[in-house]
Amino acid sequence: MKRFLLSIITFVSLSIVAGASGTEGIVPAPSKIEQAKGHFRVGGTAFKCDPALDPRVKKAVQQFALQISIASGKTCSVSFPLGLAAACNNENFKGVVLLVDNTLPAESYFLKVETGRVIVKASDCNGFLYAMQTIRQMLPDLIYTRKQDDNLKWVIPCCTIEDSPRFSYRGCHLDCSRHFWEVSDVKKYLDVMAMFKMNSFHWHLTDDQGWRIEIKAYPLLAQKGGFRSGTMIGHDENSDDNERYGGYYTQEQIKEVVDYAWSLGITVIPEIDLPGHMLAALSAYPWLGCTGGPYEVWHKWGVAEQVLCPGKESTFTFLETVLSEVADLFPGEYIHIGGDECPKNEWKNCPDCQALIANLGIKGDAHFSSEQYLQSYVTARMQKFLSGKGKKIIGWDEILEGNLEAGATVMSWRGTAGGQEAATKGFDAIMCPSSHCYLNFCQGEDADAEPIAFNSYLPIETVYSFDPLEGIPSEMQKHIIGVQCNMWSEYIDNSKLLEYMLLPRLLAIAEVQWCIPENRNWERFRQAVVGHEFSVLRNAGYTYSRVIEGIYGGQLFEQ
Ligand code: ACM
Ligand code: ZN
Repeated sequence: MKRFLLSIITFVSLSIVAGASGTEGIVPAPSKIEQAKGHFRVGGTAFKCDPALDPRVKKAVQQFALQISIASGKTCSVSFPLGLAAACNNENFKGVVLLVDNTLPAESYFLKVETGRVIVKASDCNGFLYAMQTIRQMLPDLIYTRKQDDNLKWVIPCCTIEDSPRFSYRGCHLDCSRHFWEVSDVKKYLDVMAMFKMNSFHWHLTDDQGWRIEIKAYPLLAQKGGFRSGTMIGHDENSDDNERYGGYYTQEQIKEVVDYAWSLGITVIPEIDLPGHMLAALSAYPWLGCTGGPYEVWHKWGVAEQVLCPGKESTFTFLETVLSEVADLFPGEYIHIGGDECPKNEWKNCPDCQALIANLGIKGDAHFSSEQYLQSYVTARMQKFLSGKGKKIIGWDEILEGNLEAGATVMSWRGTAGGQEAATKGFDAIMCPSSHCYLNFCQGEDADAEPIAFNSYLPIETVYSFDPLEGIPSEMQKHIIGVQCNMWSEYIDNSKLLEYMLLPRLLAIAEVQWCIPENRNWERFRQAVVGHEFSVLRNAGYTYSRVIEGIYGGQLFEQ
């Protein structure tokens, strides 16, 4: 029986690999697929687009048509004729038609592939972009390269697909502070997020080890806070390489990334982590701290004791000026203000902080210290300020400590309890517990055979098993708006390693974000990854882990 099953699995995976990929290998698995007989030839086809399409979709169709033309050696055309909906009713109508259908839910799409034509319907930009990602996933994997192969069958199978995401927020995070990523690296990161239908990029731009965004009003933040004079080596806290390291994004580069993400249907959420994780800013402007320094951009990983001083009004002027520039650069509705891991020792000993606590009448209680309530005061002021700029805040789950004002969104990272508490209290929440969503953790059981990583283990099976709504009463579930994976970069110092840590675990998160539980199945997913997505990723030029096949990757990254 075992051997029989094995040969079925082998047959399925071979049939996925040969020629057209079919529907079996699509990740995230579509909500509903009905297979039919036959296939549609894409080489040389005519794309006929509703003139009402979003300009981003129009551009994406042009790019897709060009990609197919190159791969198949047969030129595809793109046109925007009027009266498409009526024309489709004619049986002789041929080609790929993209039609706006406002009855479909956000980010959803309908795809009908017949032998003579393909009909794509969606109500918004992302719906169409995702339909094209799905078509790409059904084509031979060579579509992900820029190569031509006219011997391949450039076909997709006849089928009907109705597809909708489970969660509206499907995020992926990147820490650019501990290690700095070039704009080209960030774009490649966004590309792979888009391939797997993610829509939110959480850009961690500031931390103790480096400030990475140019702020015109405070130029030293980037020029001084963007560079450190050394970095600890490996896991050894007592070591230092004594090499200058750093970098930052100019505002022009920030706009370039925001625009690029937008073209892929991804919103960028910048994080300015406050009031802790601010040592790089303190190094640039020591008057921001309780003691006045001296401070130095940190060489070590962990949580620095030195934090912003809320006891001085000048700190709020600074924060509001920084956040004004940030709000102007990022058109999305959210700004992430961090809030995690803010040690309170300095505040306890700071006359300014203690005076503010007294003036505000803040009192500690059985649940929280007066300093925790002081952090709530900082959070509330930033929230109010940003609300005046039309922005909502997201904060790590520590923002629940003390008081939290209505309208904040909580990012649950210390397990799922923060998300559950938030939902129960009527706040929106995003689940990214380190137990399932921290992709900086080692992915192989034998850490010695893997590249150096944060000292925890998170195999892809565990990522895949995550149920974000477990333990949330059904009437509260609407507050869990989504799921995110986080990529902290302490131990990730080159782009190949970044991709290795991301892939293929990103695909597991993508299914957690997209698929209802009934459509998730570990064996199907594993087959899709090994039998199809690995060659997709390889052709698209990504480095990925093969631990899922028992192949460890440590030697790939030996110095
Ligand atoms: C976090 O991992 N400190 C949010
Ligand atoms: Zn202070």
